[in-house]
Amino acid sequence: MERAYAPYSEFRVGAAVETAEGEVHAGCNVENASFSVTMCAERVAIGTAVAAGGRSLRRVYVCSTSVEPVPPCGVCRQALAEFGPDLEVISEGSSGQIRSWSLLELLPAQFRLEEHAQADEDGRNAGAEGRT
Ligand code: THU
Repeated sequence: MERAYAPYSEFRVGAAVETAEGEVHAGCNVENASFSVTMCAERVAIGTAVAAGGRSLRRVYVCSTSVEPVPPCGVCRQALAEFGPDLEVISEGSSGQIRSWSLLELLPAQFRLEEHAQADEDGRNAGAEGRT
């Protein structure tokens, strides 16, 4: 959170993800003059964990300059679901107040390509394995 690059919103966020192996990887939000390019702290932490070899996440911790604990945004919920469908989400506000949720509670309907990529009758959407 101290290293957050947030000159536009001045809303600083830090995140740490814990892998199944017990390793912890941190991230912070990285904003951009083209606002939609901004990366949330949670997704930066996920990228750091994956680049270090992590594939399964069991917990994410979030802290920010908000007085109230903030839950991860919708995009980050889906990004987290890829590596920990029901991981524990813990968030701490600047007042020290802590809230926690399960990811399934925050994102009950998660998108998983393997569940939706069956080919139709004409073989459309067959994916790499279905192609001849
Ligand atoms: N932000 C995060 O880093 N994580 C969240 O869960 C919510 C929002 C960042 C994105 C942006 O840099 C700033 O907070 C304001 O939206």
